Amino acid sequence: MATKRSVTEASVRGRRVLVRVDFNVPLTPSGAVADDHRIVETLPTLKHLEAAGARTILVSHLGRPDGQRDPKLSLRPVVHRLSGYLGRPVPLADDIVGVHALEAAARLQNGDFLMLENVRFKPGEEANDPGFAAELARLGEVFVQDAFGTCHRAHASTVGVAKRLPTYAGFLVEHEVRELSRLVDAPEHPYVALLGGAKVADKLPLLTSLAGRADAILIGGALAFPFLHAQGADLGGTSVEAGLEEEVTRFLAAAKDAGTKVVLPQDLLYEVEGERDAKHAEVGSPAPPGVARDIGPRTRDLFYLTLAESKTVFWNGPLGLAEDFRFAAGTREVLAGLATVPGFHVAAGGDSARIASDLGVTNAFQYVSTGGGAALEFVQGVALPGLAVIPDA
Ligand code: 3PG
Repeated sequence: MATKRSVTEASVRGRRVLVRVDFNVPLTPSGAVADDHRIVETLPTLKHLEAAGARTILVSHLGRPDGQRDPKLSLRPVVHRLSGYLGRPVPLADDIVGVHALEAAARLQNGDFLMLENVRFKPGEEANDPGFAAELARLGEVFVQDAFGTCHRAHASTVGVAKRLPTYAGFLVEHEVRELSRLVDAPEHPYVALLGGAKVADKLPLLTSLAGRADAILIGGALAFPFLHAQGADLGGTSVEAGLEEEVTRFLAAAKDAGTKVVLPQDLLYEVEGERDAKHAEVGSPAPPGVARDIGPRTRDLFYLTLAESKTVFWNGPLGLAEDFRFAAGTREVLAGLATVPGFHVAAGGDSARIASDLGVTNAFQYVSTGGGAALEFVQGVALPGLAVIPDA
């Protein structure tokens, strides 16, 4: 993808710079920030703006409040964490685009920060309402897009504002585009995709886009069940996404025609009610009376053998129920094996980054994307509206 006009080219001293960040971070049940990867990754841009004497106004969403104010989705815990990293208090403008926000923005001194409250409290955000975008744009004189994780959304704070202000890419966005482009433009082969998680229907476009581009696709997690089911495997009481037989069969045929090897689990671990330990079963033999929760040891070895030959790896989604220690071994062992393989390995999408961190296997990756759906769309080669509006360098 073409390089975007960088924040380093913007003249920001003494100017109000509106920065879209993606602080949509997981919260603990008590409302504290559970994982601050997305906050930490914006610090290079924020510190650059501070040093350059900008008056920075931060815009983000948190969760999906659907245009309604929801105190549980306030950015207050995020601002608290951010203030710690910046070593200065960052005030939170509660009214987003109202008179108080305008006054707070006008009071900023060079190097100061202000954060607006959750932009999705306003219905105009997701609707990309022109009036709301204009109000938001009024707060700044320059716009910096650093919310890679939200660039697949054509919202007021990603696209509407960019059309109204001189727009630049922040360092996080530049970094994501540079690294993820290595999977899209000219990946070093063999290129292997390791995919898990659930919701095959959502992941079929990704799978389809990888047929012919990846040399092998290894499928684990609940993602594998519709494939195994379509091949007639007995999966016991495992729930399988219905109505996908035709699509998964078509995908398998297309991948074969395109020369992409698809590797499915050959054994599984089951959770059986009333039994503490996982039950192992080969795919193709009768399933135990339970629910499949993880790939088995033979499949781990099989996946590892393909990964060991690779030069590029893209991972998305756990290969089992990774939050349950009995069913975390598939994901943990395969990624621990991957850590020993030289090459360029990327983790992206959904909870992948957090799971790798919880299992202590982040060292398997040269790059961990901050993007969820945005990263998956980028890897598929889809043009993201939030990137398209940033002028090329
Ligand atoms: C994400 O977490 O993927 C982004 O913040 C986008 O969130 P959304 O799917 O609610 O638009």
